[in-house]
Amino acid sequence: MTKKLWGGRFTGKTDPLMEAFNASINFDQRLWQVDIQGSQAYARALVDAGLLTAAEAESLVAGLQQVAQEWAQGEFAIREGDEDIHTANERRLTELVGAVAGKLHTGRSRNDQIATDVRLWLRQEIVHLRQHADQLIGVALERAAEEIDLLMPGYTHLQPAQPVRWSHWLLSHVWAWQRDADRLDELAARVNIMPLGSGALAGNPFAIDRARLAAELNFADITYNSMDGVSDRDFIIEFLFWATLAMVHLSRFAEDLIVYSSREFGFVTLADAYSTGSSLMPQKKNPDALELLRGKSGRMVGHLTGLVVTIKGLPSTYNKDLQEDKEPLFDAVTNISGSLQIACGVLSTLQVNPMAMRAALSPEMLATDLAEYLVRKGVPFREAHHVAGAAVQMAELQGISLSQLAVEDLQKLHSAFEADAIAIWDFDESVERRDVDGGTSRRAVLAQIAHLRAWLAGRHG
Ligand code: ARG
Repeated sequence: MTKKLWGGRFTGKTDPLMEAFNASINFDQRLWQVDIQGSQAYARALVDAGLLTAAEAESLVAGLQQVAQEWAQGEFAIREGDEDIHTANERRLTELVGAVAGKLHTGRSRNDQIATDVRLWLRQEIVHLRQHADQLIGVALERAAEEIDLLMPGYTHLQPAQPVRWSHWLLSHVWAWQRDADRLDELAARVNIMPLGSGALAGNPFAIDRARLAAELNFADITYNSMDGVSDRDFIIEFLFWATLAMVHLSRFAEDLIVYSSREFGFVTLADAYSTGSSLMPQKKNPDALELLRGKSGRMVGHLTGLVVTIKGLPSTYNKDLQEDKEPLFDAVTNISGSLQIACGVLSTLQVNPMAMRAALSPEMLATDLAEYLVRKGVPFREAHHVAGAAVQMAELQGISLSQLAVEDLQKLHSAFEADAIAIWDFDESVERRDVDGGTSRRAVLAQIAHLRAWLAGRHG
């Protein structure tokens, strides 16, 4: 049996089941690169602290480079007894450079090591996620600008409410994505803090220059309490909340498109690349990509809830329960990353059907405009609302649409109606009348796009 890192005081054998139960190498091996990066920096810090000669450090750094190469080329052989990524890398380093490898862990604990590794890793992932989010937003803004003249029904309670621009609908989702992107930047600052040098819980006894170590690893700051440093997983919980909310936003976007792509609506057609057929019904084209975007929000809620509960009752500092932070985090990153890219693919290949959108607009959606017409003639809104309701009823009784009511009929309901009332029945005009900032007019929607474009450009800068 191979010698265990912590084996000194242990004489009995570990139950093989326990060995497997305890091990995290199966999932934490994805931290290999950051684990090595952290160890190389730590080796240099040990030189500054007078614990390693420059030559010893050089040997460690070169050995670690060799280990990294084996991982990168898929040649790293995980051995029995490689409990986690830290033990695996150190075991291999020992094989490569010999006894000097035993000096690397001086003053360090796997407790400050893992906390540092995860922060280094998540920091990198956030850079990619940011790019995927920006790309999705960029595509949406392009579409919104290009298709600004398309009108469709806007819904509340999924009942046709008032006409809106298709772009206005699309931008309503973009604003949620924009908040997600900002939120990601904000939490990234709290990820980018270095616990290394906290030891197991009580700090490092060898005068490691933590500020210098942090600078070397590009951390913006260090943790200032060693007990908090090894224990804090707030940044993971925060990230999981971020991923959950971002996923919920994608889910709602997907749900709209699932409805709009149904045959009954037909406003959009999903590209073949993002749909599948049925193994039984030849006519089917299913919006699987969108359904998965909707479906994956459930697991994110699960990851967030799970970790919060895991951490809730833990005593101070490190407890093995904390090993349970990794699988949900890794899964969350994989799935939110995939989801942002799929959403971008769906949106950039989506076909819009302007005729179907237009055809779904009905004059009843202008009943509010009818009331507003009277308001403009000086009628109090409550009264105008009542008159418009009576007009809807009158049209229903005559079996005609609201716009077909003669001006004379309208005048029976209120004397304020004049010949210009026919101008009410224009969907484009209705949308243009809502020219307030944040409204549906062309100007207001273009202003949204300009605002978001400036924000996006600022992020790239
Ligand atoms: N695999 C462990 C984790 O993920 C690393 C830290 C282990 N620390 C310890 N004292 N056993 O949390």
